[in-house]
Amino acid sequence: MNSGPGPGKAGRETAALPKFGKVPKHVAIIMDGNGRWAKSKNMVRVQGHRAGAESVREVVRAAGEFGVKYLTLYAFSVENWNRPKGEINTLMGLLEKFLRDELPELQKTNVRLQAIGRLSDLPENVRHQLHLCIEATRENTGLVLILALSYSGRVEIVEAVHSIIRELRLGHIDSAQVDEQLFNHHLYTRYYPDPDLLIRTSGEMRLSNFLLWQLSYTEIYVTPTLWPDFRRQDLAAAIIDYGNRQRRFGAV
Ligand code: FPP
Repeated sequence: MNSGPGPGKAGRETAALPKFGKVPKHVAIIMDGNGRWAKSKNMVRVQGHRAGAESVREVVRAAGEFGVKYLTLYAFSVENWNRPKGEINTLMGLLEKFLRDELPELQKTNVRLQAIGRLSDLPENVRHQLHLCIEATRENTGLVLILALSYSGRVEIVEAVHSIIRELRLGHIDSAQVDEQLFNHHLYTRYYPDPDLLIRTSGEMRLSNFLLWQLSYTEIYVTPTLWPDFRRQDLAAAIIDYGNRQRRFGAV
């Protein structure tokens, strides 16, 4: 892999592109291990989240450079609201700061920001900043960065069922029309293709309620690397591994 650092520019390193077989159109990531990373360094958990936010910045930039078209990041689950208040506040603060600080970079790199989840659960300042970024980047044509916020795969599916029931009651559709394609159109992710590659950091072998419908035929890559240590070269390694997979979608 020829991904050594190239000439730095304004403190930002640009690196030569690794040699990829095929690049997944849509990469989804369960960013896990911030707490363990902090613990391993005798730091408090929130410092792990701060370091994790740096990985987010680097991975977003790298994904765009590598030719990934959609990147979905599991940033906050519905279940994460059960964490201690201080940790939730830190995560919300980091999110707001990311959206505020990264907007010029998202514009410069042509990234379009989107979000999925129960966004109305988020604090007003985060919703405001999120809305600003989504609107400001609406016309961008490069990487689509999708943040999963207050997200739950099961909630998404139940909301889709309610939405279909409404359509049926209004007589807009007939029950015979309810099939996979129609169901898909009622999910938060209706505008995006299903992920080709799911990356989970920190070695855990779980889906954790993430994109339960959409991951049916997604290739899974689990790395022991903790999220704050997951950087450009780790994304490249996952994509190279994906390039060696045979995808059969249940056929032979
Ligand atoms: C999992 O680590 C990580 C999260 C619950 C939050 C992810 C948040 C970030 C990466 C930072 C902010 C996000 C953005 C988009 C700027 P964990 O706390 O469950 O780690 P552990 O399993 O080791 O305890």
